[in-house]
Amino acid sequence: MSERIVIIGAGQAGAQAVQSLRAEGFTGPITMIGDEAYPPYQRPPLSKAYLLGAFERARLFLKADAYYQETGCDLLLNTSAAAIHRAERTVELTDGRKLPYDKLLLATGARVRRLTCPGADLPGVHYLKTIADVDGLQQVFQPGKRLAVVGGGYIGLEVAAVAAKRGLDVTVFEAMDRLMARAVSPQLSAFYAAEHQKAGVKLKLKTGVEGFEGGGKVERVRAGGEVYPADIVLVGIGVIANDDLARAAGLPCGDGIIVDRNAMTADPAIFAAGDCTRHTGREGVELRLECVQNAIDQAKHAALAMVGKPKIYSEVPWFWSDQYDLKLQIAGLARPTDTLVLRGDPANRKFAVFHLRDGKLAAVESVNAAPEYLMGKKMIAEGIAVAAERLADLSVPMKQMGEEQRA
Ligand code: NAI
Repeated sequence: MSERIVIIGAGQAGAQAVQSLRAEGFTGPITMIGDEAYPPYQRPPLSKAYLLGAFERARLFLKADAYYQETGCDLLLNTSAAAIHRAERTVELTDGRKLPYDKLLLATGARVRRLTCPGADLPGVHYLKTIADVDGLQQVFQPGKRLAVVGGGYIGLEVAAVAAKRGLDVTVFEAMDRLMARAVSPQLSAFYAAEHQKAGVKLKLKTGVEGFEGGGKVERVRAGGEVYPADIVLVGIGVIANDDLARAAGLPCGDGIIVDRNAMTADPAIFAAGDCTRHTGREGVELRLECVQNAIDQAKHAALAMVGKPKIYSEVPWFWSDQYDLKLQIAGLARPTDTLVLRGDPANRKFAVFHLRDGKLAAVESVNAAPEYLMGKKMIAEGIAVAAERLADLSVPMKQMGEEQRA
């Protein structure tokens, strides 16, 4: 008898696991449950082209509907798991049904962190995580409207860029003293601050939001002791890992479900992949990654381990963000103690910041500079040593730089 696999979470990681399980020759039944109304879809376009109205909804879906039937995956939408019963190996759904499993994959993702300040529940205060969120936001996303963005991270800034392009009047409120502080170096923060200001976006750094006011809907933002008129509020202040089911089932969690480098939890029948997990990365540091790359790669590794072909997960993390005509691509994980090397001139809107650690490339942040990103990612994966002067020298092509160091 073939094993039964249940996947909780119909997002990027869940869809990848179905594909990888079949590719690895697993022929048994797969059931995937998701609490949204839609089959697995790409989230990255939501805060970019989809919000702008330049990307059709049908293109968001990772697979055609027929795919799930063809691959023998029973996809249960609008369905939530209530509990995992590890002793009897079942997943209990909120409607009381129980799904038996031999192997279980938790691909539950993350949920938005919500503001709790006064007025946070007023109509007009939006979050952005799902298709439904963007569809709701689009209805009010009209030229001339005053948009207050809370959080100068990826979501906030991508939305700010789309809004500025669409002719909204945008103000970003960021609690820290620079933009995208979690994700990029101070050099990149400063560059992006200048670009947003050029596009007419007003930036309020070191400015926490105290509350929202309005009669029946949001009309004003109170922040940093001032009052700002606003028609729409978009909050992007980070996400929280959905590890509650795992935690309630007694699996070790700590801001994410703890998995090993085979994506296995403390229970050998239960695996986890994507934003909901916490693992020890290739540099030996425990981390929780919020990115498409990790969802895909961890799901692949979970599938391999489930079919008895475990392979250690040690991919270089990578991220990207599109704001205006700027393509930000990041590979590796920077640390504040890294030595920074600039290649190219930010004034040309095409440059990279390399992060050196112990003489080796540890991370690269590139703006409109694909060769720097691609070769940088390769050099990070291979642990290539490189001199700062050489990296900064534009007369040395990136391709050659990698090759020469390898010789
Ligand atoms: P984030 O962590 O990137 O940024 C949140 C920002 O909000 C930070 O700059 C933080 O300092 C600020 N903040 C926190 N509390 C605040 C407060 N009370 N008032 C003002 N500012 C406050 O999270 P974000 O942008 O919400 O993104 C959510 C998720 O979506 C993340 O997992 C992110 O990686 C993902 N995402 C990734 C994208 C990409 O890779 N291009 C694009 C969009 C989202």
